[in-house]
Amino acid sequence: MKKILVTGGAGYIGSHTVVALHAEGFQPVIVDDFSNSSESVLGGLRAIVGTDVPVHRIDCNDKAAFRQVFEREGDIAGVIHFAAFKAVGESVQKPLAYFRNNVGSLLVLLELMQEFKVWNLVFSSSCTVYGVPDQLPVTEETPTKPASSPYGRTKQMGEDILRDVDQAPGNQFKTVLLRYFNPIGAHPSGLIGELPLGVPQNLVPYITQTAAGIREKLTINGDTYDTPDGTNVRDYLYVGDLAQAHVVAIKRLLTLTWPVVETYNVGTGRGNSVLEVVKAFEKATGQALNYSIGPPRSGDVPAIYADVTRSAEQLGFRTSTSLEDALASAWRWQQNLSNE
Ligand code: NAD
Ligand code: WQD
Repeated sequence: MKKILVTGGAGYIGSHTVVALHAEGFQPVIVDDFSNSSESVLGGLRAIVGTDVPVHRIDCNDKAAFRQVFEREGDIAGVIHFAAFKAVGESVQKPLAYFRNNVGSLLVLLELMQEFKVWNLVFSSSCTVYGVPDQLPVTEETPTKPASSPYGRTKQMGEDILRDVDQAPGNQFKTVLLRYFNPIGAHPSGLIGELPLGVPQNLVPYITQTAAGIREKLTINGDTYDTPDGTNVRDYLYVGDLAQAHVVAIKRLLTLTWPVVETYNVGTGRGNSVLEVVKAFEKATGQALNYSIGPPRSGDVPAIYADVTRSAEQLGFRTSTSLEDALASAWRWQQNLSNE
């Protein structure tokens, strides 16, 4: 079994990717400091995959501790680097923490991968690198824009660092940069899913918490945008599909020879408005949602969705889960959480 180190493997996307890796015959090894996840995820993972997933509880910025992981694990075929802070608003308040964690941990990881000659890397990037795009859908060639938040800048810096390192002599890094659009939903078992701390900033957790009665109502952030119904448009993809994209990317890296830096959009290729998501949630779950229209949220991109031609043609990857099914899975997860 090929061993894949999954930094941030206890987090939302990481935990689903651990399941997908296991299902395809890989041995995932989690590296996580649980700064934004709960140990309870490990029980969910065990129940889903039928065995304990190895875990190293360390901060990826702690080089000495991280080096011990490489030493103890031995033969590592590749790394998927999810570990990062991801709250856009918080990054404006705490930019240093974001640069330290997101850029710093990547540098430590790359130095250790070089030291231990582990050359295959999948990096979590984001559609945030496109900013407000001039045309839709966005392809990987669509020019990136100066990021509107320190968080976004950490993703752009991460991409730049990886492209530079890849070109440099003396190493053989092979890298896939995955630019995720908006991941939603949870594992069909309802055993793992998104665990937002405090008031959710993202749309789908806010919707499910409203339906569960934890929030009084959803406020839709503006309905006067230049979009078909005036609300923002995004490309919402099922987290299980996104997890699968990582497996496909790792498999591809294992077949390629250096040099490789490939960038892929990971989305559905469709845009849905906030109102459409609300309606799809109501239809998928039978829950009537209390919502009202509020003012626009500062810094929001009016509309963005992916052109997925490259990921379909080169990676052979397409999403397969509908918006309604993804929303139904998010609701199942919320109900499980509320019943705990
Ligand atoms: P998450 O917060 O649920 O998962 C991140 C995990 O990394 C957490 O378990 C956290 O404890 C861990 N972590 C953070 N810093 C660490 C460190 N220094 N050392 C060890 N572990 C650390 O987030 P997620 O939604 O699963 O996102 C995963 C990755 O995908 C992130 O890099 C994020 O920026 C990127 N991304 C997320 C989205 C999204 O909408 N969720 C979209 C685009 C990109
Ligand atoms: C989606 C839509 C909101 C909450 C974020 C990050 C981005 C990337 C993806 C990581 C928007 C609207 C939301 C609410 C609402 N992440 N909304 N009421 O803004 O596309 O992007 O996730 O890389 O960097 O910024 O996602 O889920 O916050 O919002 O009307 O209570 O829902 O205004 O139009 P977003 P989101």
